[in-house]
Amino acid sequence: MAEQNAYQLADWNGQSGEHWVVHQARLDARLAVFGKAAIEAAAPAAGERVLDVGCGAGASTLALATRVGAAGHVLGVDISEPLIARARALAPKDTPALFRVADASSTELPEGTFDILFSRFGVMFFDDPTGAFAHMRHALKPGGRVAFVCWRGAAENDWVSLLMGAIKGIVPPTAPPDPEAPGPFSFGDRGRVARILTAAGFTDIAIVPFDASAPFGEGATRDAAIDDAVKMTFEVGPLSRALADQPDDIRARASAAVRAAFAGLPGERSVVIDSAAWIVTARNPVS
Ligand SMILES: C[S@@+](CC[C@H](N)C(=O)[O-])C[C@H]1O[C@@H](n2cnc3c(N)ncnc32)[C@H](O)[C@@H]1O
Repeated sequence: MAEQNAYQLADWNGQSGEHWVVHQARLDARLAVFGKAAIEAAAPAAGERVLDVGCGAGASTLALATRVGAAGHVLGVDISEPLIARARALAPKDTPALFRVADASSTELPEGTFDILFSRFGVMFFDDPTGAFAHMRHALKPGGRVAFVCWRGAAENDWVSLLMGAIKGIVPPTAPPDPEAPGPFSFGDRGRVARILTAAGFTDIAIVPFDASAPFGEGATRDAAIDDAVKMTFEVGPLSRALADQPDDIRARASAAVRAAFAGLPGERSVVIDSAAWIVTARNPVS
């Protein structure tokens, strides 16, 4: 039998991990508003213990650490060695946050220890999401809470649908991906998220839409910001995968089309694009 999460392990320690490190500051700027909303939903209090799943370069882990303070503790877990290395490099010396390279779905976690199971876009990549959430639930205290943010469907997210629309007719079409396959949009279906959490043993599940506009590219001028957004599109996310194996002439035409699509979006020294997420909360039953 194939090792659980083998593809994600390879990808986040390979190309995706490398590109996320390169674009870390820009990705953090873009995802900040979503992380903030999820942290508000988690409502961490001073002294609490938090598990940050798929913490990446640690922006949410460090934000949570400032909320729980020196009496609290935050453990950021991620399968990506390059991203955890970046998280450790960015962490202030006195932070109550620790980082661990591990698969959150199977790594040994202390039983009944955490007050909050948190994630900013890090829980959509498990081969067996129900098994993963059941495993992580055991690390929560009875009555402990879950709060995470994940993307809604690709069709609802302009940073995918608008750009995919722009390259339609340039890049040969491929079969649509399985919407439940591990990846950024695998939690797009609210009913599926509720089923996963229920089967993993959680109660009080709430799944609330959260829409926000966020900077996709930035630069000293509007043109530089558009160039930056195009570069990031070709290196991170669904479009980069669709374009990866295409010949140079198709990539050049796709680049021009993506540039034109970005030029139609607002922003002065940035390109501002709409994104659609779920803020999900749940609770570990008391008994
Ligand atoms: C979209 S990134 C989000 C990173 C970070 N939370 C952020 O908001 O910047 C998804 C992260 O999930 C991590 N990941 C994927 N599968 C994982 C697993 N089984 N266990 C732990 N981390 C995982 C990846 O390595 C990656 O860093």
